[in-house]
Amino acid sequence: MENILTWKDELATGFADVDLQHKKLILIINDIHVAMNEPETTYATGMAKALKRLTEYTYYHFEEEEKFMKLHDYPEFEAHHLEHQSFIEQVGKQIKTLSKANSEDGFLFYRFLGSWLINHIAKSDQAWASFVSEKTLND
Ligand SMILES: [Fe+2]
Ligand SMILES: [Fe+2]
Repeated sequence: MENILTWKDELATGFADVDLQHKKLILIINDIHVAMNEPETTYATGMAKALKRLTEYTYYHFEEEEKFMKLHDYPEFEAHHLEHQSFIEQVGKQIKTLSKANSEDGFLFYRFLGSWLINHIAKSDQAWASFVSEKTLND
């Protein structure tokens, strides 16, 4: 079973900074996959570290993306912001269940992160990206 997330070219928004940030998020999510397979003795510290990176980098990325959308008066800004918020909330809730090694919880969390991110990039991020690129073409 393919359970390591990979970047695909069709996920590209065409905005280099954002694409780099998305690639980095995929790497961070894959580090969680590595951490959840750690033996019980190192699991807690490894997982805590990986989750800290995930939350910090997610905040950073969402902030950057939202600044960019605002700069270009993206009309669906509020809805997009809410998607980001609800992701942060869901991650916050699920993190609490991951302090003890349990490969099933870890795997479900990993699957959730991966599918949320890929879906969000493929739909919502592509939507603002095409709005902004059309707008800048016509400016
Ligand atoms: Fe987004
Ligand atoms: Fe994004």
